[in-house]
Parts: sequence; C-alpha cells; structure tokens
Amino acid sequence: RTVVREKANTKMRTAILVWLTLQNSIHTLLIRYSRAREVDEMFTSTVAVFLTEIIKLVMCLMMVIYEETPRKFFSTLNSQVINQPGDTLKVCIPAMIYTVQNNLFYVAASHLDAATFMITSQMKIFTTAIFSVIMLGRSLNKAQWVALFVLFVGVSLVQSQTSNVGNSSNDQSPVIGFTAVIVACCLSGFAGIYFEKILKGSAPVSLWMRNVQMSVFAIPASLIAVLVQDGDFVRAHGMLYGFDFIVWLTVFWYGIGGLSVAVCIKYADNIAKNFATSVAILLATLGSVWLFGFVPSLMFMLGAALVILSIFLYSNPAPFIQIFSSEKTID
Ligand code: C5P
Repeated sequence: RTVVREKANTKMRTAILVWLTLQNSIHTLLIRYSRAREVDEMFTSTVAVFLTEIIKLVMCLMMVIYEETPRKFFSTLNSQVINQPGDTLKVCIPAMIYTVQNNLFYVAASHLDAATFMITSQMKIFTTAIFSVIMLGRSLNKAQWVALFVLFVGVSLVQSQTSNVGNSSNDQSPVIGFTAVIVACCLSGFAGIYFEKILKGSAPVSLWMRNVQMSVFAIPASLIAVLVQDGDFVRAHGMLYGFDFIVWLTVFWYGIGGLSVAVCIKYADNIAKNFATSVAILLATLGSVWLFGFVPSLMFMLGAALVILSIFLYSNPAPFIQIFSSEKTID
C-alpha cells in the first residue's frame, strides 16, 4: 500500500511541477504585457498586489468550504483561525515578508527591463538553497550545488539575449532595481522555507487554512502599502484606475500563481519550485518567439541545454557524484 501511495505522490508532485511551469510561463508574459504596453492609464501596482491578496483569500475560503462541507466551515474557521491566535500569528512573518516581496517585484519591474529583472531574480535559487540548509537542516551534495549553479548560468544565458533589447528611459534607476531584486530574493528564500517549515510541522492545519491565516496579515499590510505609497493618487483617481481586462487577468493569474506556489511547497519543496519557475522562463522566452517575433540565438540554445542538464543533475545526482568524488573512489 505504501508503494501505491508513493507512486500517487510522485504523480501528484510531477503534475504540480508541470502545472507551475506552465502557470509561471503565462504569468511572466502577462506581467510583461500589462506593464509594458502603451496605455493612457497605467494601473497602480500596490492596488494590484492588494487585490491579488483578496482574490487568494476568496479562493482559499472556497477550498476550505469544499474540504470541510459548508456546515463545518464556520466552526473550523473559528477553531483554527480565531480561537488560535498563537497559531495564526505563526504565519505573520511569511505573510508580511511576501507582501513586501510582491511590492518589490513591481518596483524592480519598473526600474529594470524585464529580462534583466528575470536573470537577477534567479538569485532566489541560491537564497532558497542556503535557507533550506540552515533552517530545515537539509543537506545538498556537491553535485546538487553544481546543479544549482548550472541552472543559474543556464537561465542567465537564456535571458542575456533579450536583455540587450531592453529600453532604459531616464526615470529608470538600475541601482534601485537591483537592490529591490536582491532584497526580494533574500525575502523569497526565507519566507518560502519558513512557510514550508510551518506547513510540514506537526499542527494539522490544512494548506488552504494556512493561507487564510496569512491573509489576516497580508490584506491589511498590502492595504497599508497602497495608502503609504500611492495614497494621494488613489484618492484622486480611485483604486481601479487603469484596470482593464488585461490587468484583471494579470491580478487573477498572480493569485492562482501564489496558490500554485503554496501547493508546490506542500507536495514538493521550495527548491523543486525554483526549477519549475526556471523552466518557465525558458518557455516564456520561447513563447515570445510566437508572440513578439523573438528569434532564439546560439546562447539561448546553450542556456536551454544547461537548464535541462541541471534538472537531471539535481534530481538524479548519483552518476555525477561519482565524477565529482572520483579522487576518493580511486584511493
Ligand atoms: O517567487 P516566489 O516563489 O518567492 O513567490 C511566492 C509567491 O507566492 C508570492 O507572490 C506569495 O504571495 C505567494 N504565496 C502564497 N501563498 C503561500 C506561499 C506563497 O500566495 N503559501
């Protein structure tokens, strides 16, 4: 029976990683499009982050109702969120950090061209690995560290082609952009591992309920971000200034993306999640062949090959470990 369960888990894990890859590819194209297209009214990014949190809360509540049946819904909500302030407080840290990170994402996207932003945001691969070693006590072998490095180089090569095309206007400050990305990567690694630790800990609280608990902090925090950063603008023009179909679609898709990350952390882990998003970058770049007439270069092909190699290297390091430890095997 355990073998059957293991097989089902592996299938589930693979399905989620494939889904996250596809989800993220579309997400990248959508965000690029929503921010870069020529429109008279550009939406306020802090409002987009806030509305994403609301959409996630609604989706999570629906999942809790589905899992618990409508009749038990309020009693579970009461017993697991309202009557357990200590347990709810546990998710305060990742919730706050994710709010800051989601806002930094838009700051970075406004100061760096999308390609440069995506390359530098791959630093997440290392911050996540380091936090999983420190906080979860995981150990990665030499071949896996090499795999992470190969992944980073691969994604950078894939993106280097498009980064030359970026247009930097005068109001863009690369220093602000890079600082935002670096801080966001550290926050992403830390929050992801912290959430994984809570989720895989002993308390029998479902993934959806954990996200409802996160919303308790994330919604007010993202609303404060709207008021502090864009308060005057929102008071003058309204919250939904510039919100057309594409922006709503981006906000909705961002919400689905966040919850896909949560499911991935539960069934796989944060490092596997980074591999999925790296492959997504590859697919998104290929997607722009079709959408924006992008022609892949030799560098792109080499980078793509490295990304694929790194996945094999990370998930099945045994044959490679022999190569790395050949000196030991000789004596
Ligand atoms: O890029 P990274 O994987 O760090 O992004 C995490 C994203 O997933 C954030 O937008 C965060 O708000 C979302 N998330 C979530 N629920 C979780 C974990 C992450 O909505 N439980």
